[in-house]
Amino acid sequence: MNVKKATRIAVIGVGAVGSTSAYTLLLRERADELVLIDANHEKAVGDALDMNHGLPFLGRTKVWAGTYEDCRDAEIIVITAGAAQKQGETRIDLLKRNASIFDSIIGEVTKVNSHGILLIATNPVDVMSYLSLKKSQWPAHRVIGTGTLLDSARFRYLIGEHLSIDPRSVHAHIIGEHGDSEVPVWSLANVAGTELGIGNEAREDIFTNTRDAAYQIISAKGATYYAIALAIDRICTAILRDEGAVLNVSTLLEDYHGISDVYLGVPCIVDKQGVRSVMKLKLSGEETDGLHRSAGKLRDIIQSIGL
Ligand code: LAC
Repeated sequence: MNVKKATRIAVIGVGAVGSTSAYTLLLRERADELVLIDANHEKAVGDALDMNHGLPFLGRTKVWAGTYEDCRDAEIIVITAGAAQKQGETRIDLLKRNASIFDSIIGEVTKVNSHGILLIATNPVDVMSYLSLKKSQWPAHRVIGTGTLLDSARFRYLIGEHLSIDPRSVHAHIIGEHGDSEVPVWSLANVAGTELGIGNEAREDIFTNTRDAAYQIISAKGATYYAIALAIDRICTAILRDEGAVLNVSTLLEDYHGISDVYLGVPCIVDKQGVRSVMKLKLSGEETDGLHRSAGKLRDIIQSIGL
């Protein structure tokens, strides 16, 4: 009898985002094995112990604090390691600190794994994803950033609140940088294919609250981690179940409305191979201009660190 290979997700970085992501993946029983890796190994040991003690209330998932060697058999390597935004910091401010951390992480992962999917959550996520692509030399479809999936979820939630409609029934995209230059695609936002009927003032409020949500949450409680963990779980599920789900992850664009060689959040079809393909949205002139501004900002940053 051939036994199905155990599915494994490695989570590198067990700070607030990493440990909440691991816990979310555990609660939803996404993989047979969860390995937690952190420079602070003791923290990973503590998280693994704490999660294992909950297994009698859950299904059977193997959770342990491991090393890069444990990435060898991982289908997905989630990277959340790095400095997190502090109050008043932009995501771009984290770049220098996190670029050097990533250099060693990607080097260690690619020593033992050549077939998995890298799922990057560390900010600035679009730049860190591009850096991971260059450092790993893996095909772009297997190097994915969380992108604007979280921003789109915030956008859908706020539209749903405004319309008193379940956010799962709101179809709306934020594209571009996961950051201050992100772009709301109002021209395609809809509920059951119908116009939203939201006035300009309310649109401004909804988008401002979407774009600036992280600043608000960081100011209130120091960090964001619940919704980004759910976004990471959603992407892992689409990969492990070979769903072909359309998710606004960050991917390498090639001639996307004339934009190439930069990672941005756009709707992608996500399945077991990672990004199967990119959905080219029909954008308004204003939305296309916004996407180009986002691309230009990130390309300048990528060049500034010599990539
Ligand atoms: C946020 C972090 C994940 O937007 O960038 O909450």
